[in-house]
Amino acid sequence: MSPLPTNIVRRGDASRSALAVASLRAVHQLLDEPLVLADRIALPLLGPSAEAALRSDPFALNDPLSRGLRAALVARSRFVEDGLSRCVAAGVRQYVVLGAGLDTFAYRNPYHDEELQVFEVDHPGTQRWKQQLLAEAGIDVPPGLTFVAVDFERDDLTHVLQRSGFRADQPACVSWMGVTMYLTVDAVLRTLRAAAGLADGSCLCFDYRVPTAMLDPVERAISDVFEQRVAALGEPWLSSFDPAQLQSQLIALGFRSAESATPEELNERYFARRKDGLRTGGSVRILCANK
Ligand SMILES: C[S@@+](CC[C@H](N)C(=O)[O-])C[C@H]1O[C@@H](n2cnc3c(N)ncnc32)[C@H](O)[C@@H]1O
Repeated sequence: MSPLPTNIVRRGDASRSALAVASLRAVHQLLDEPLVLADRIALPLLGPSAEAALRSDPFALNDPLSRGLRAALVARSRFVEDGLSRCVAAGVRQYVVLGAGLDTFAYRNPYHDEELQVFEVDHPGTQRWKQQLLAEAGIDVPPGLTFVAVDFERDDLTHVLQRSGFRADQPACVSWMGVTMYLTVDAVLRTLRAAAGLADGSCLCFDYRVPTAMLDPVERAISDVFEQRVAALGEPWLSSFDPAQLQSQLIALGFRSAESATPEELNERYFARRKDGLRTGGSVRILCANK
């Protein structure tokens, strides 16, 4: 078997792609009006010098490719948080953020009265770095938050969650955004199998890359640029999936339904009638599966 390409996260370093996407969410707070994702933690979490640099020149990260990616990032966060709000209204009290990176939901959690428990699941190197950033920024770790260390290439999500106080007999809302592309197909399918064992009433929303051959020439050219950029960061893309096949696989694993949210639907839902023309697109698709 050929070895996996070098991945700095598996080596134990913090994820650089997590910093890159968090910086773009922070730029969204400064440049985009109206906001798709209102996130008062996005800037302070990056630390005083990074926050000051972005505030003084947010346009440094406003080239057309960064703008398109920024739209995709805020749309996916808003999409999962809208889904979470429906889950909480239906009685779900556990939220699991897989590959959390610098996701800030737990520090803005509006569901204190509902006692929503949040589990941030990530590689230990990224998690240590986030905890340092939180401490340096004076952002308290809220009582309902549990950090759970995982290596998706090696660990079984069910066992990892079991050891962390997660109630396997209770439903959960699970998000897994911006992670599967950095994992092997085996690791993605193993984690999906574990998620299929969640209690009835649970839901899982994640995104994944579609094969390059399925993209139009413009999307393919953009995808090639991003592929080179993430490889240069030390986090190469390792997987892609055919949407129809993946949907069937989720049903075969035991999910009751699996529905995709296309870029067109996200544009209609979150970017309609904007004067600044911000729109999402690209080679990544979102799937939500329900138990
Ligand atoms: C691009 S970041 C996305 C972070 C976050 N979901 C967001 O949208 O901001 C990728 C995340 O995947 C995590 N990751 C990559 N490979 C991993 C692995 N083998 N096991 C656990 N986490 C991994 C990284 O630590 C990082 O947090």
